[in-house]
Amino acid sequence: MIVTIDGPAGAGKSTIARALADRLAFAFLDTGAMYRAVTLDALRSHASWEDAGALAELARRSKIELDETQVYLNGDDVSDAIRTTEVTTHIHFMADNPAVRERMVELQRMYADGKDIVTEGRDQGTVVFPDAECKIFLTASPDERARRRLEELRQRGESPTLAEVLQQQDQRDLRDSSRGVGRLEKAQDAIEVITDGLTPDQVLAHLLEFVRARIPDQQDG
Ligand code: C5P
Repeated sequence: MIVTIDGPAGAGKSTIARALADRLAFAFLDTGAMYRAVTLDALRSHASWEDAGALAELARRSKIELDETQVYLNGDDVSDAIRTTEVTTHIHFMADNPAVRERMVELQRMYADGKDIVTEGRDQGTVVFPDAECKIFLTASPDERARRRLEELRQRGESPTLAEVLQQQDQRDLRDSSRGVGRLEKAQDAIEVITDGLTPDQVLAHLLEFVRARIPDQQDG
């Protein structure tokens, strides 16, 4: 069974998707980490951001491996290195490139093949797994998402203002929802869950109920 969780940055997707996979004993795939890894590869190899063909070629060559907790790029553990602001600010060069996306989609389908899996990103329910049995669109208001992000950054020792976080978030939302392919949008057959005012445990309980109701064996029993 495939469970897709899409939504904007800061909606709490990662935490919830991981916890959901854990509770269901399903595999987990963080597709944002794949876009991050390929962006890091381009940074490390000083690729030209203007050369879409070279970026696509690099994406085809990059060896990206993931397990439940770690991300490896060409054999190197890059789980922390992919979370820097430098990677985040350059990611759109890769995420907007249709040939790069094509490669990522191919890898995501290979990863999920034959597995029960929770997969998380922007285009999982729309493009990558249009036939997934359970599709979830997880979101929250811009203010709530920015407040959560600010909290996260402060814990990491960074100290931007709420206005700065909101501005960057708006930019990223706009980019994610207006790209030509793989844009952020709710699949028609996805349920939308707005997480404002809900604790992660409450969201998790709701999603577990939704997914379990669709697992054939459990429906019967
Ligand atoms: O999920 P995360 O915030 O780590 O994703 C980083 C970026 O990767 C997103 O802002 C988006 O531009 C891109 N992305 C994407 N498609 C996905 C997952 C992530 O374009 N399926």
